[in-house]
Amino acid sequence: MRVLIEKDYTEMSKKAALMVAGQVLLQPATVLGLATGSTTLGLYQELIGMYRRGEVDFANVTTFNLDEYYSLGPDHPQSYHYFMYENLFNHINVKAERIHLPSGTAADIKAACAAYERKITEAGGIDLQVLGVGVNGHIGFNEPNPSLPVYTDLVDLTEETIQVNSRFFRSVEEVPRQAVTMGIGTILKARRIILLANGRHKAEAIRKTVSGMVTSACPSSFLQTHPDVTIILDQEAAALLG
Ligand code: GLP
Repeated sequence: MRVLIEKDYTEMSKKAALMVAGQVLLQPATVLGLATGSTTLGLYQELIGMYRRGEVDFANVTTFNLDEYYSLGPDHPQSYHYFMYENLFNHINVKAERIHLPSGTAADIKAACAAYERKITEAGGIDLQVLGVGVNGHIGFNEPNPSLPVYTDLVDLTEETIQVNSRFFRSVEEVPRQAVTMGIGTILKARRIILLANGRHKAEAIRKTVSGMVTSACPSSFLQTHPDVTIILDQEAAALLG
């Protein structure tokens, strides 16, 4: 695991954008795995800026998003579909047919999860997976649990995540109780992974991610088993690293 500690959120986002853009420059038909959340907003703004300046071209890129709330349709303002179009896809030249997000509303959700997993394989697998991390160490929506899904699946959200994510909803009652997420195995199959974290509230999760035992009590700790992970932090998120 490589750990890069940047001065602040802006520098963290710029460093991540350079890595994503570098991947696309080296391999224009790259397959990106993408994450939602406040952490990745700065990265997406940087990428939009690079695209507008003609520094990077997404015409041949394929994307797969990590997760989606179960039961929120693409038009719901808190759905991850909506987030991705608002904050990235509407502003760059990625082709609509190459954008993939898990469905939160499929009639047969298990079949949709299996089909999503197959599509990733058919696309050749993920070249570069971007991750954020939850305060409880979740990646995607792989929550701390005695067992974790290997492949894309429907999962229950923990009470902690429901509370943390309620800041985006009008009330905690509105937060979905379940989500569809790539599994730990799906994530670990990516050829290269970058994980971003900023803020003091992520410091404990980051400490458990980079050191100590691999445990399903902190799903991000599984990244220690991957051969090519880069963690990009601001100073606050790095506060508990020795
Ligand atoms: C969310 C998402 C994750 C995201 C994480 C951090 O619930 N499921 O994919 O990485 O939690 O979110 P934020 O960046 O808003 O702190």
